[in-house]
Amino acid sequence: MTDHSDTQEQQAAAADATTFWDRRYQEKDQIWSGRVNPVLAEVVGELEVGSALDLGCGEGGDAVWLAGMGWRVTGIDISETALQRARTAAEQQRVDARTSFERHDLATDFPSGTFDLVSAQYLHSPVDFPRGAVLQQAARAVALGGRLLIVDHGAPPPWMPEGHEHPPFPTVQQTFDELGLIQDHWRVERLEAIERPAVGPDGQQGVLLDNIILVCRLA
Ligand SMILES: C[S@@+](CC[C@H](N)C(=O)[O-])C[C@H]1O[C@@H](n2cnc3c(N)ncnc32)[C@H](O)[C@@H]1O
Repeated sequence: MTDHSDTQEQQAAAADATTFWDRRYQEKDQIWSGRVNPVLAEVVGELEVGSALDLGCGEGGDAVWLAGMGWRVTGIDISETALQRARTAAEQQRVDARTSFERHDLATDFPSGTFDLVSAQYLHSPVDFPRGAVLQQAARAVALGGRLLIVDHGAPPPWMPEGHEHPPFPTVQQTFDELGLIQDHWRVERLEAIERPAVGPDGQQGVLLDNIILVCRLA
């Protein structure tokens, strides 16, 4: 029997996340730089080309770059506004034949299939989001011999206004532990927090902390 109260609650939560992110994207014609995230570019440079899943792909900066490198990429986001921008970027870069952008609310609806690379770049959300469970599903979507790359903010950016509410930033070890990987089935290739110089939205110079997890599926 369907539990209507649960279903309605789930729908309400989903609508909130969708509304939040669509509004966020609609605030401006472009939210992100459009450039590939630096850690992804560094990691992918050493991998053989294959299939990739980009979770929370936003406006498609990473997916379009990956496709330009020859990868077949599925980009997933909750915001149709962001996805439409990603499709346009892929067409403009003439890589649309190697990209597919799909709307999923990862909290309730994870894409099917396995991939040589599953990438989650700054997959944070201030709206109720079961990040641990989503990242566990991300690990299950990695093909044998494939890799999971998670890059997270390890701390708020220095230009974040004081008193600004944000979800807690887990340490890299906390995120890794939450994945619950079977030790013998994975090789840990990177597990570290690194600092990198960055420029804020109003040109502020600062240093950001990135948490990086890169694991390769062995079994
Ligand atoms: C902080 S942004 C990062 C965007 C991009 N990966 C980047 O590095 O620029 C988080 C992205 O996750 C998406 N997102 C948030 N909650 C989601 C959900 N429940 N399902 C799918 N995507 C979601 C947002 O729409 C947004 O594009």
